[in-house]
Amino acid sequence: MSKVFVFDHPLIQHKLTYIRDKSTGTKEFRELVDEVSALMAFEITRNLPTQEVTIETPVGKATSKTIAGKKLGLVPILRAGLGMVDGILRMIPAAKVGHVGLYRDPETLKPVEYYVKLPNDVNERELIVIDPMLATGGSAIDAITSIKRRGATSIKLMCLVAAPEGVAAVQIAHPDVDIYLAAMDEKLNEKGYIVPGLGDAGDRLFGTK
Ligand code: URA
Repeated sequence: MSKVFVFDHPLIQHKLTYIRDKSTGTKEFRELVDEVSALMAFEITRNLPTQEVTIETPVGKATSKTIAGKKLGLVPILRAGLGMVDGILRMIPAAKVGHVGLYRDPETLKPVEYYVKLPNDVNERELIVIDPMLATGGSAIDAITSIKRRGATSIKLMCLVAAPEGVAAVQIAHPDVDIYLAAMDEKLNEKGYIVPGLGDAGDRLFGTK
């Protein structure tokens, strides 16, 4: 069974409060999501392997550390996942970025991929799939399935807010994918919104309604 991590860092929680607040406008919402994403990137990379290297400082020789192991890749799920990409890239500027866009056919209920573009060395990268709202888990599950089908073997899922229903669904479908959150909320409502949540993340990020 995969693990679930909730980042309870005070800065993350403080900013999340204002992200949730319905009186926060588009500009501020976007900036706060960006900042929280950068802070979450800091936490999610805490256990990356490092290696010792020797370098010359202006004063002398030093043994110091650099990040070792697999390179990273980000895969935002369109469209709300886009709002978290820049913040993460500020912390991990060398990460490559793929994109997955999909929806469920209302008749067959099967996922339809309308856009998938991944780095061509996806099998050699540690991927972070990004979806701000983990509601039913349907899109995250389908996106991860699609990415695995293209060769990915090492995947983490990063979300701002999750409902317990979505977390459980991802854990059943993809027991190898650990989940990283800023908050675990109470439940889903009858319309599939996370309660208390923050509303529609895509609409609030892009100012649509
Ligand atoms: N997607 C959102 O943007 N918000 C929710 O609450 C659930 C799904």
